[in-house]
Amino acid sequence: VKVKEIIDPADKVYTIAHRGASGYAPENTLPAFELAIEMKADYIELDIQLTKDHIPVVIHDESVNRTTNGKGYVRNMTLEQIKRFDAGSWFNEAYPMFARDKYAGTSIPTLDQVFDTFGKNIYYILEIKDSTPNNNIESLLNEYITKYDMENVVAIHSFSGTSLRKFHKINQDIPLYQLVWNDYAVVRVSEAYLADLKSYAVGISPNFQGITSAYVAQVKNSGLKVMPYTVNYQVNMNKAYLWGVDGVYTNFPDRFLEVIETN
Ligand code: G3P
Ligand code: CA
Repeated sequence: VKVKEIIDPADKVYTIAHRGASGYAPENTLPAFELAIEMKADYIELDIQLTKDHIPVVIHDESVNRTTNGKGYVRNMTLEQIKRFDAGSWFNEAYPMFARDKYAGTSIPTLDQVFDTFGKNIYYILEIKDSTPNNNIESLLNEYITKYDMENVVAIHSFSGTSLRKFHKINQDIPLYQLVWNDYAVVRVSEAYLADLKSYAVGISPNFQGITSAYVAQVKNSGLKVMPYTVNYQVNMNKAYLWGVDGVYTNFPDRFLEVIETN
């Protein structure tokens, strides 16, 4: 790596608790978000799917199978059905070293519950996950953001550029991040690609394994932010920090805060 490719660490580097403090608590649950706030993360990241009755709920997968004691697709169940599942006991069984009694029985939260519980005590990055065509998830999320007066504390990201462009047409004041997956460590991208992204997004969230210091420098020089995911080891966190990223998504927010403090 040539020295000129390395740029100064950003003034403020965000700690983004990926699915909450999901290394220590069941992902995408109120306890995981609460713990992230206790650990002093800047953002909580949460994945949004829609129920059959079109209610935004916080769950990563399309189905409830992996993270609850239930079975089935979120889109085929009403909120009332979804709320019956236990979204915490699986974690206690899988990670006995981090198990806590209060995790057992916690349910899949609605977006309402999250906003009601944490208000403006934290910044939020909502991920648009539901890929059902024409479900209008973008306008629905915008309604929730405005109803709770959260415009200044919410950002949105998605792997779907179509969804982000749609959201940008609805509300240009919410910062959008394009999630990208690169199979190999990218050194350069085309200026046309960056210019197109800038027409709707403020930044890129790439997988950490797919970036280099040169990539970070190029994207940042174009005026876009870079926030890689999901960085769980301090050796990689330190690298990302020194490359000058604007934030890091991690399941272990305390580890990244330690890296920032020691730099
Ligand atoms: O936050 C980036 C990351 O959330 C994208 O991947 O699968 O964890 O939602 P995933
Ligand atoms: Ca996510």
